[in-house]
Formats: sequence, structure tokens, C-alpha cells
Amino acid sequence: MAETKLIQWSDDYSVGVSILDEQHKSIIRMVNKIHAYITSGASSEEISEILNQMTQYAMNHFRTEEDYMKLFEYPEFELHRKEHMEYWKKTALFANEAMSGNKEVLGDILSFLIDWWMDHILRTDLRYKEFFQEKGLG
Ligand SMILES: [Fe+2]
Repeated sequence: MAETKLIQWSDDYSVGVSILDEQHKSIIRMVNKIHAYITSGASSEEISEILNQMTQYAMNHFRTEEDYMKLFEYPEFELHRKEHMEYWKKTALFANEAMSGNKEVLGDILSFLIDWWMDHILRTDLRYKEFFQEKGLG
């Protein structure tokens, strides 16, 4: 794998709420860091450590989104929350596998993280953009 930045945040990813955009930018930075760790041959401990950090950060981010959704009674809340839960389950499994020293799973983890976040932000998160903007969030 080449030492390139895999994801570059751009305005296309903006969900119109600055705190959520900032969190998404941090998440993208973490995905890129995981990529760098994997390509530089970091140890299983180091990789599972950063994966755990990222999971914690993501859970905190999901809570921020979900709190706004509950506050404004976002109609697609349940559906959206389900995706967050799926992510959590999947990354918990991956962190275990990485911890067990299974190097083969690392490429899968990276692809999953990139695909999931790109799809989730662009397809699922952007669905609340207009709704939150109408509620005056910015
Ligand atoms: Fe989300």
C-alpha cells in the first residue's frame, strides 16, 4: 500500500453543522493514521490501540449526532442509529482480530473504515443536513 492520504475532507462532505464537520475531519485523520500505522508495519498492540481509540472517538461522535436528532425529533433517527450500532459491532470484532495478531485482517479493516465512513457521511449523514439547517443548527 502506498503512503498516501486515502481520504481528503472536502466541502462535499459538509453536513452543515460545524461541530459535526470537525468531528468528521478528526475521524478522517484517524483513518489516515491507521493507514500509516498499517503500512509502516506497526505492532498488533499499536494497531489495536489506535483502533480502540478510534472506536471511542466514533462513539462519542455518534452520541453528539444522536443527541441532536433526539432534541429535534429527527424522523430517521432509528434508522440512523442502527447504522451507528452496526459500525460499533463491526469495529469491536476487528479490534479483537487485530489484537490476536491476525495481520491479514488489517487490509480488510482499512477498506471497511474507508468505505463505511465515506458511505455513511455522504449517504446517511447528508440526509440530515437540510433538516438541521431548518432547525437553525450551524
Ligand atoms: Fe451518522
